[in-house]
This record gives sequence, structure tokens and C-alpha cells, in this order.
Amino acid sequence: MSENLYIPESATKSEKYQTVIPQIEALITDEADLYANLANISAALKEAFGFFWVGFYLVKGEQLVLGPFQGPIACTRINLGKGVCGTAWVEKKTLLVPDVEAFPGHIACSAASKSEIVVPVFKEGEVVMVLDVDSDQLDDFDSVDQENLEKLMEVLGRQL
Ligand code: SME
Repeated sequence: MSENLYIPESATKSEKYQTVIPQIEALITDEADLYANLANISAALKEAFGFFWVGFYLVKGEQLVLGPFQGPIACTRINLGKGVCGTAWVEKKTLLVPDVEAFPGHIACSAASKSEIVVPVFKEGEVVMVLDVDSDQLDDFDSVDQENLEKLMEVLGRQL
């Protein structure tokens, strides 16, 4: 696998996902180390889509603990059920938040973050980590992001 990501410049978001997701899958299926894969997924999504913050929080006991990410420094621990990440963990489902200020209990790691998507990763039916993607634009995520990121997180989950 080449260590360069091919990203089509003048493409729709959907076309970009179609080009980039198989490259990320090829990167992670050749590598057994979880942290290496979480780091590369974060970097690839940030590079391809220019998101403000992309990273993982891993379940450790009753908390989510910050894992590999790309972007500004972030909160290190999130309690069960707290914030968008802790809510996605408890509800075991993807959360799309078009305006973080309107989400009760949203944890503002950065005032620049305006919208967010959080996708859980499952192992044997339990959430073991979440992918968190933040944008500095309002309403920046939709079903295209949800479908593609869920598909990628399923591939990751099958490797755990
Ligand atoms: N906003 C998240 C916290 C993590 S940061 O955005 C990186 C939340 O409410 O769970």
C-alpha cells in the first residue's frame, strides 16, 4: 500500500468518499496494530475532507478516553452518557449534530467546533470506541457522511 492518499480535487463529497474509503480500508486491513490504524484513519479523513477535528475516544471502564486524533488538543475523558460522544456510546447509534450549541450537554473542547458527527464502533455488540468528527461550519454533516463513516467503522470493528 502506497503511503500517499489519492484525493480527487474537483469531486463531490460522495465521490471523495468513494475514492478515499477503499484506500483507508486497504491501509487498515494490512495492519494489525489498532493505534496505528486509528492514527491513519484520523489523518486520512482530515486530509481528504479538511475537517476541523477527527479522532477516537476509547471505552475504558465508565469513561471514554482520548485516543489518536488530528486537530487541536481535546478533552481527555468523557463520562458515560455525557456530551455527544457519551450519548452515542449509551444509545449505541450514530449522532448527527447540526448545531452543537443546540445539543444539551455538548462538551465544547473548542469554541470553533460548530457541528459534529459521532459514530460508534462495535465489538460483539458492545461499543468499544467512537469516531468523533467536528466541523467549524454549522450543519456540515449529512447522510452521506453517516453512511460512509459507518461503513468504515464496521470494517474497523471486524478487525478488533
Ligand atoms: N464535543 C464532544 C467532545 C469531544 S470534542 O469535540 C473533540 C462531545 O460533546 O462529546
